[in-house]
Amino acid sequence: MNYKNKTVWITGASSGIGEAFAKAFFKEDAKLILSSRREEELQRVKQELGADHSNCYILPLDLSNPESLASKASEALSIFGGIDVLVNNGGISQRSLFAETDMDTIRRLMEVNFFGTAELTRAVLPSMMERRSGQIIVTSSLAGKFGTKFRSGYAASKHALQGLFDCIRQEMYEYNIAVTIVCPGPIKTNITKNSLTADGSSFGKMGALHQNAMNADEMISRIWSKVKAGKEEIYISSPKERFALLLKRLSPALLNKILKNSKVT
Ligand SMILES: NC(=O)c1ccc[n+]([C@@H]2O[C@H](COP(=O)([O-])OP(=O)(O)OC[C@H]3O[C@@H](n4cnc5c(N)ncnc54)[C@H](OP(=O)(O)O)[C@@H]3O)[C@@H](O)[C@H]2O)c1
Repeated sequence: MNYKNKTVWITGASSGIGEAFAKAFFKEDAKLILSSRREEELQRVKQELGADHSNCYILPLDLSNPESLASKASEALSIFGGIDVLVNNGGISQRSLFAETDMDTIRRLMEVNFFGTAELTRAVLPSMMERRSGQIIVTSSLAGKFGTKFRSGYAASKHALQGLFDCIRQEMYEYNIAVTIVCPGPIKTNITKNSLTADGSSFGKMGALHQNAMNADEMISRIWSKVKAGKEEIYISSPKERFALLLKRLSPALLNKILKNSKVT
């Protein structure tokens, strides 16, 4: 893909992986629409990019507010005359035992990570289909491939995204629309701090797993050529995580035995 002058709409652009995506697309001379809830953080990202109104638009939105998303999508479509690339990246994670977790917390994880993403994609796809071109990028997770402790609602939402976008990919081949699912292992961002605990409050700290992980800029630079090539699935994983992915296919029972003793925070 050549992203020069293409319009790229990124959710979760105020921090971490979304911010790193914004930098990478901006370097390729794409026009950006940056979305998340915190407008001031989106403005910071825009300023740090050195962007202006001709190449970057701030569109605050809340993925957990389904009624608002269709009109946000219409606004996004009208800014630069269409969307060429939609980066569905905004999301929240979880740190709580399922048996103790409020259903409202599980619903919130599904709302932000799955339903909000589905809603924006549904609103953007018809215009891409009409133009017979486009790319949908989704930040899923290794948690979209196998479950671990304390991530029940998060893993459910990411598994749901995986199923949804596998189907959308099949439907969109004939319209020349690529679906790229990115599955990172731990990346050093604010994801753990912002994770929901059982009652929906934030976890508030970063565990060792993420503290020692690579940062988001490094992650994006490692996968950038694959993103540009429109690769269907991209993994950012350690040798141990790649082994886990393989075991999930070959011997899920063995993987479960290994995972039950592994450190997940
Ligand atoms: N970091 C990792 O280890 C890791 C691994 C696998 C997958 N991922 C996935 O990567 C994506 C980005 O996460 P990150 O690691 O970059 O974490 P992050 O630094 O916490 O960023 C999360 C982003 O999502 C936005 N967001 C959260 N709730 C939202 C809502 N209700 N509406 C709109 N935007 C919302 C946040 O912005 P506001 O607060 O401004 O709304 C922020 O920009 C997520 O989908 C996450 O599941 C991360």
